[in-house]
Amino acid sequence: MIIQGIHLTDFRNYGRLDLDVGPSVNIFYGDNAQGKTNIIEAIYVAGSVASHRTSKDIEMIRFGENSYSTGLDLLCDDGGTLKLTAEFHTEKSELSKNVRSYRVLKQDGIKIDRISDYIGVCNIVIFAPEDLNIVKNAPAFRRRFLNTLISKVSPSYFNLLSDLSKLMNRKNTYLRTARSGLRNGEIKQSDIDASLDYWDFSIADLSADIIIMRDRFARLLSEAASKHHSNISGGKEKLTIGYDTISGCSVPVEASGDDSRQYDGYLRKGLSGSDYTRIKGILSDNILSKLKSARSYDLEKGISSVGVNKDDLDIKLDGLQMRSFSSQGQQRSASLALKLAELDILRMFTSSTPILLLDDVFSELDAERRASLLSVMKDAQIFITCTDRDMTARELAPMEAAEKARYFHVTGGTVSAE
Ligand SMILES: Nc1ncnc2c1ncn2[C@@H]1O[C@H](COP(=O)(O)OP(=O)(O)O)[C@@H](O)[C@H]1O
Ligand SMILES: [Mg+2]
Repeated sequence: MIIQGIHLTDFRNYGRLDLDVGPSVNIFYGDNAQGKTNIIEAIYVAGSVASHRTSKDIEMIRFGENSYSTGLDLLCDDGGTLKLTAEFHTEKSELSKNVRSYRVLKQDGIKIDRISDYIGVCNIVIFAPEDLNIVKNAPAFRRRFLNTLISKVSPSYFNLLSDLSKLMNRKNTYLRTARSGLRNGEIKQSDIDASLDYWDFSIADLSADIIIMRDRFARLLSEAASKHHSNISGGKEKLTIGYDTISGCSVPVEASGDDSRQYDGYLRKGLSGSDYTRIKGILSDNILSKLKSARSYDLEKGISSVGVNKDDLDIKLDGLQMRSFSSQGQQRSASLALKLAELDILRMFTSSTPILLLDDVFSELDAERRASLLSVMKDAQIFITCTDRDMTARELAPMEAAEKARYFHVTGGTVSAE
């Protein structure tokens, strides 16, 4: 699938932009703060309904306006065309100071109600300076990376996440009500236990599905990222990625069959039906008992102290946790390896080549890392931002597609094609 056209309305510093782009390499060049990243962000938002630099949609609405729209004209691999549009609207209430906001997603002009039905349609992978956060920042960045990847491959996973998040919010509200009810004697402990049994059973059930998915994709990531990392670093160091979840609740993959069980098969295809049911049963029992052990503490504090909302990826270089012990250069190589792994996994699960967005990263890479990136970019449609047009043109020269590259000059929210 490739992008043929981009349409923006009131997105960041663009009032209105309608742009035709080329099928191979598209380079957006210009001075700082002109709107290069904004275009890349808009493309990513139109494909993935998420920005790579903010989780607040409202920030992407052009100052002084009430909504943004970002749309893509797509050419599918089978020759058909498709239009995707992501809009975000805000409305100020006459009566209160509250701002109501809502999202509208459309495919060929028809509203799509579930985000999960939209995000897998067009696969886009972004490489940006923010990728470094995956390796060096808080667990939330790693969870987000993993969640985004799995959601692109499996719409049902996205639904699991949103169902769990709704359930957890309701349970947390209940915990706070129960806490004050218990203090002033309005609610009996036995009633609280009965209600929490209900919440926890459903939470354990959803969490078990989520843990099985995360475990599998963390293993796939580890395999692919380790391979890429070895290419980038000349095989000197070993990158591994583990999955940390609720203690005592890791997936007992070994329990799923005899020794002849093909581990590779588990990674590619997941667990078979009967293995899945059995493993999920063991897991949800474990989770439930952890939730119950935390109950009196959670009730005291009015929070959920145990849950997959605290999961993390354990990224290590030669056995040392990278977040604490690695240099900036090592973290850069690892984050590039992780993103290349994301690309591999998307290719593995979806038959079409993902579209690549490279925001300010290409010229930042050294020759080895750039070569790693070029080697995977061969047949992909690519969007690159840079400040130095001619330098980027020289760096791209080893690529066959460089001959077909199209250049766009970005100044103050306007784009002109060369
Ligand atoms: N919501 C917004 N409305 C209008 N302008 C914005 C908004 N958000 C950012 N900008 C402007 O966009 C510009 C930065 O654009 P960006 O694409 O990040 O620059 P660059 O070309 O360096 O990548 C800044 O001038 C900033 O003020
Ligand atoms: Mg930029």
